[in-house]
Amino acid sequence: MHDIVTRLLAERMVWVPMPELGDLLPEAAQQFKSCVLGNIPIEDIMTGKYELTGPDDLEAGDPDDGIIAKYPGKNDPSRKRHGVPPDSKVYMQYRLRTRAMLRTANLYQQVFDPFFDLMAKLRSLLDLRIEDMLDQLGRQCQELGRLQHNRERSVIRVMTYLEPRRDDSGLAGKYHTDRNDITLHLYDSVPGLMLKRTASELELVPTRPGFSLAFVSDRLASLTGIPAVLHGARDNGKRQVIVMFVHFHHADGT
Ligand SMILES: [Fe+2]
Repeated sequence: MHDIVTRLLAERMVWVPMPELGDLLPEAAQQFKSCVLGNIPIEDIMTGKYELTGPDDLEAGDPDDGIIAKYPGKNDPSRKRHGVPPDSKVYMQYRLRTRAMLRTANLYQQVFDPFFDLMAKLRSLLDLRIEDMLDQLGRQCQELGRLQHNRERSVIRVMTYLEPRRDDSGLAGKYHTDRNDITLHLYDSVPGLMLKRTASELELVPTRPGFSLAFVSDRLASLTGIPAVLHGARDNGKRQVIVMFVHFHHADGT
């Protein structure tokens, strides 16, 4: 982990070997489709029945929990932020409390269990990795020594794109940085993530089973002065993606 954190701080991103996640990730993507999406009407997702608002959501009015649909024509707050219509996609924001929140809202079904059990396992493995990473960040950089994992706010997003974009742009939305501390790009069913680390260079990130790509996002950038990684995606078609947005408790209490 020592070398990994050194590279993350020097190069703004690093491939982290995570062989323990190898089989769990494609299985989670598949079970999201079969156990969850396969058991609820797509219209209910499209009309926001499964969107939930939790206490840790970053922006009021931008539901950030439960199962969320974004598609061109839908009036959603993130469109204002990015300025272009979203891709057609559905995703679950999986947090520690997601199953309980869905139960409270009377939206949970027992058929979801295999997916949620798998996500709980994935999450506990990732939490161990994040603790290691924080430990090393603190050793290598004194001002990062007081960071702690904000376990409630950190979220795994499991995303299924529904159809290719129709605007022939070849791109999915705008290049952006993420709002959390560190982003862990965990799984792609096909390559699609594009990085823009310099003004002239675009890199297509290959799929790399057994590895996750960790990169610096906005909050860690503001703490360290290391610029967050600008990224977007190539036209997604029917790609499936799993990403973890890792949040820390900062020393200023945020
Ligand atoms: Fe992003």
